[in-house]
Order: sequence, then structure tokens, then C-alpha cells
Amino acid sequence: MKVTVAKTAGFCFGVNRAVEMVRELLNEGEKVCTLGPIIHNRQLVSELEKGGARIIESPEEALPYEVLVIRSHGVSEETESQAEKHCKRVANATCPFVSKIHKIVKEATESGRIVFIAGDEKHSEVIGIRGHCGESYVFLDEQELKKLLKKFPNIGEIPVSMVAQTTFNADLWRKCQKIFKKVCTNGIIFDTICNATSARQTEAAELSRNCDVMIVVGGRHSSNTKKLSEVCRMNCEKTYLVETADELNSEMTANASSVGIVAGASTPACIIKEVQQTMTENLNSVADNTIISDEMSFEEALEVSLNSLNNDQKVKGTVLSVDSQEIKVDIGRKYTGIVKADEYSYDPNANMAEEIKVGDVLDLIIMRTNDQEGTITLSKRRFDSIAGWEKIVNAKENAEILEGKITEVIKGGVIATYEGMRIFIPASQATLTRAESIEDLKGTTAQFRIIEIGRGRRAIGSIRSVLRDQKAELEAKFWESAEEGKNYTGVVKSLTSYGAFVDLGGVDGMIHISELSWSRIKHPSEVVNVGDTVEVYVKAIDSEKKKISLGYKKAEDNPWVILQNNYPVDSIVKVTIVSMTSYGAFARIIPGIDGVDGLIHISQIANRRIAKPQDVLSIGQEVDALITNIDFEAKRVSLSIRALLPEEETAEETVEATAETEVVNAPAEETAPAEEAAPVEEAAPAEEVAPVEEAAPVEETTETPTEETAE
Ligand code: F3S
Repeated sequence: MKVTVAKTAGFCFGVNRAVEMVRELLNEGEKVCTLGPIIHNRQLVSELEKGGARIIESPEEALPYEVLVIRSHGVSEETESQAEKHCKRVANATCPFVSKIHKIVKEATESGRIVFIAGDEKHSEVIGIRGHCGESYVFLDEQELKKLLKKFPNIGEIPVSMVAQTTFNADLWRKCQKIFKKVCTNGIIFDTICNATSARQTEAAELSRNCDVMIVVGGRHSSNTKKLSEVCRMNCEKTYLVETADELNSEMTANASSVGIVAGASTPACIIKEVQQTMTENLNSVADNTIISDEMSFEEALEVSLNSLNNDQKVKGTVLSVDSQEIKVDIGRKYTGIVKADEYSYDPNANMAEEIKVGDVLDLIIMRTNDQEGTITLSKRRFDSIAGWEKIVNAKENAEILEGKITEVIKGGVIATYEGMRIFIPASQATLTRAESIEDLKGTTAQFRIIEIGRGRRAIGSIRSVLRDQKAELEAKFWESAEEGKNYTGVVKSLTSYGAFVDLGGVDGMIHISELSWSRIKHPSEVVNVGDTVEVYVKAIDSEKKKISLGYKKAEDNPWVILQNNYPVDSIVKVTIVSMTSYGAFARIIPGIDGVDGLIHISQIANRRIAKPQDVLSIGQEVDALITNIDFEAKRVSLSIRALLPEEETAEETVEATAETEVVNAPAEETAPAEEAAPVEEAAPAEEVAPVEEAAPVEETTETPTEETAE
């Protein structure tokens, strides 16, 4: 069996660009809204939504502080200008290939041409294109084009420009061009089908000619995914469109020897990988099941013979002795009953010497009577198997949960033993998520449901089905009691550039990056890692969208609280210079915490006039400074080195010294006499030269952003 994934499967350039644009804006802490879902993929859209990207239907819904993202399909000119009016900024992610069509049709209109568009008139891209031109007509295929042409009796004389939706079917486009060329003698054709689309369709056509089954992965609303599906179906009857791996089932690939996987332009790579993995597992499981089925066909033969057993052949035996090799039982006959180790259980790890004790009564089946030796060979595992099968059939009918031991990990899944029966559980059904390893299941006891029963007592189980129900139950419980401010202990499940997702016990919440630390951090991994247990509290809940925002950083760690408690005004502190500007230097006050940096104004760096902070200070230097002022409201701290300098080095003396030096270095007549030189205070009064408030708003430089500003 062969599974082939098309090389062109996955994000195209334009979609990737749009998604990255949204991600970048979120990373920059912008409030983002997208005009429609940024991509035809529910999973990715919901991931972006969790990160804070809001979907709106019209520009009027944008909020004044939001950045509105126009998706790769593009919009009409009018919508573009509407968007500018309602939001903070417009980020235009229209694919450049679509923008090119906008330009073509606009120029066509300006030069008096009418526009024919091959495409779906309801598709956003086509609506957007029409919004960039005047008179235009849309047709879906050759028939519609022919009908359209008939509307213009003098079509040969009319100036017409024809373009195609970027994802239009390449074959159909060729046919339409032929028709157009025949009659539109004053026509111009612009080949606007995107290369990515035509390459994808060509590969899909090629692959579907050589495969028994084609799986098309992508959103059902995605135009290019639907077209891929059509292309594949022309060559391969068994073409299935799925949005995620969960929609796959073994019937799709029954009797197939080759499976091809293609994917639309908006399908994330992780979903394609999951589909590929599931297909491979399904095919392997078919192979494995064949083996099981072979094994069971022996069982089947046995069952036929067992069915003919009379009650004398199903017996109860009282254990007389037991060791690792055999169990001797009394079955009320003159011969001794013997159960050999290999007829004890289907569980290869079963230990009869430990599990059975003298006096136990066992249900057994007579296999053979040996008159010469005076023994009867019995089987416990076959009796268990028959009884177990009945329970399995009932469990399947009633969707009952069974419990069994995972005895083997095999290719494509695990084997659970239940009442002497082997239940195959495919890897895709063995854990809640695909990220979990099935290796760790061996030796554990698992709950599962029977999802399929086949010939030859073949049963397939699902642990995932039970885990999903349990998860849903936990979720329901969580939402019953969840409230803002409530504390939880959770486990970090995943990290993104904008936050950490935490499992709160069935429900995930997100700690935004700005909530992780009082200091500025570039990535959540600077504070937490996947698998960490964290104490969090609920900051906000959106029960409708099932979104939970979590708080993590503690009030007592707030650097401003630490400052208030330990660093009063007029105290002398050892500070570290972290940055410098023309009007002063910023210094870290609390060691190891960069949330509070104080400003040493240039006039407070030395007791003499200096041209720039670098004349005296360097980054990383530790210096003693006096805290001269703290404005907790504005979050500003003022420091002074000058205040700690010895009194004898006064500014006047320094100026005089400077003047003397200047006299030595320059002709006296060209140099300003010392008394005429501007005193330090006049030359650079703190308020006039570099007022902290105007020249360097401290909020921007030193303040830890709140979640509002960082989101
Ligand atoms: Fe652009 Fe082509 Fe994708 S038009 S959005 S690169 S399919």
C-alpha cells in the first residue's frame, strides 16, 4: 500500500503571507480584526481567534483601536476606503496576484472596455475584482460564456477584456479562451490564473490518474479545494474531501493499493501531516487486521467446532494444583483435567501461578481426551473467548465502555485484552491527541468502546472515544463553576509567540505573553515551558466562545510594589546603566528586574557640563545614584549621580577649569572668557533642553506594558 502526498499540497504564497501578517500583528501586541476569516480553515482561524484576532463581516464593525486585515482574496475599492475610516490602520494582505487583476480591470474600464470574469460570482475574490471595474460580467463555465456572448449581437466590435479568478480550473479556462477568441475580435485575454493554483491542479490530475483513492484536504468553503476535488474526481471515482483527519474512515480505502493526498492552498501543513499519518495507520491496520483475521479464521473454525459442543464439553474444574507450566483441575470425571500454560489466557503477560490458587473453580472447554495417559486437555482461554465475544457484541450495540489491559504495541496500534479477546485499537484511536505516544500504553489498563466488529471475531476498539467523553464531561464541569478571579493549577500544554496555553483539567486557557512577566519578554519560553505546572487565575471568560484568559504574574512581584517597599526617595542605590539617549541615561534600579528603569538626566550625571552621557557613563556600568523623585502614577523615577558628588567640585569650578583648558588649547581672542561662558544651569536647564515629559515619555521606555497596551 502506498500513500503519496502531492508536492504542491499546503499554503500558497498569498495565504501564507496573510496568515503571517496576522500573526505578526498579534505578536506586536496589536488588536486585530480580519474582514472575514483570514483563511478557509477552521482550525487555523480558531487558533488565531484564541490569539486575539476577531472576525468581522463589514468594515463598520471594526473598532477605532483595531488593525483591520484585508485577506488575500482582496475587496472592492469602496470597502478598502470604508475600512480606512473605521479602524486604527488597515493591513492589506490582498495577494499580489489578485491586486494585479484589480489593476487590469481598472485600466480596462478606464479605457472603455467591458470586463468578462471567469469565476464564481459569489466568491469574495470575484466580488472584490468587480469592485475595481465598471461594466463586468461573470461566467462559471463554457456554457455560461456562450450564453453571455449571445447577449451581445455585435460582440466582434465591442472592446472586451477577459480575466479569470486566480483559482479557476485551468482546463476550463483553456476551453473558454478558445470560445472567446473565436468571436471577440476586439478582445484581450489576461491569463490571471495563479501559478500555484494551476501547478496544484496539474499535480492533482496526474496523481489522481495513478491512485485508487484520492483524499482532498481542505475547507469545504474553499474554492480552490473544491476545484481540486473536481479535478481528482474526473480521474478517480473514489475522491473524498475532508477537512481534518477525523473525517477519515477505513471504508474510504477499502481494497485500495494506492492513496493520493492533495490539499488546498489554505490547508495548514500540520493537518496534511495528520491526514497522511492516519491514512498510513489505517492502511497498516488493514494489514494488521488481516493478520488478526487470519488468526481469527482459525478461531472461526474452532468456533464452528465449539458450537457443536454439548454441555459435557463445557465443564467446570476445581483447581487441584498450579505452577508456571500447567493447572491441574478436577472436572468430576475419572481423568485429571490439565490446562497448559498456552491455553490459559490470551494475555501473553498473564501469570497463572500468581492469578490462580488451589480451590478456584474455572470455566473450561474440553479439547482432547487421552485415554492412555488418563488425562483430559482443557482450555480456559477458549472458553473466555466465547463468553467475552458475546459481551463485546453487546457492548458494541450499547456503546458500553469496556476495560481491558493493553498487552501489546504493534505496528499501527495496540492490542487490548478483554475477557480473553484481543481487541485491536488503531493508533489514531488509542490516545486523545496524535501527539501522545502509544508506546507508554503497554501494561496499562484502558477504557475503550468497540467501534467495529468484523468477521472472524475481529473487534476494533477506541480509547479516544472514551477520553473525548471524559474531556467533554470535565469541560462541562469546568464551565459550571468557572468564574473570574478563581485560582487554578494547570499544566502548560503549548507555547506560541503570543502566549502559553494551559490545560486546566479538560479546558485550555491562555496566558497572554504580557501576563507572564512584569518584565518585557520576547517569548513565553523565557518564563514557562511545556509540561510546567503553573498557578493561574481566571482574568476573563467568554462563555460563548469558550475562551479563557488567564493571569499568571503575581501582584507582589510587581517591580513598582518592590520599589515602593524597598527604595524610598532620598535613598542611595547602586544602579546599572542600561541605555543612553542624548538627554540622559536609563539605569536599572532593582537588580535582575528590568520593569523599573530610572532616568538620570544629563544635568544629573556629573558635577560639570558634559556634551553627552557617554562622556561619563557606559552601558553595563554600575554607579551609585540618589533617588530624587518617584511618580508612581506616571511610573517615572528620577535619579541623580551629581547629588552624591563632593561639594568642592561645584559646577562653577568645573566651568572655570574648562575655560582655562580652552584658553590653553585655543587662541585667547577666539575663546569665550570663562565668565562669559554660559553657566551649566543656563546652557542646559533640565526643563528646556530635555524635559522628561516631552522628549522621552518614560512610559514608552521604562514602563512594563499592561495587557491592554501589549495585546
Ligand atoms: Fe495568491 Fe495564488 Fe494563493 S492568487 S492567494 S498565491 S492561490
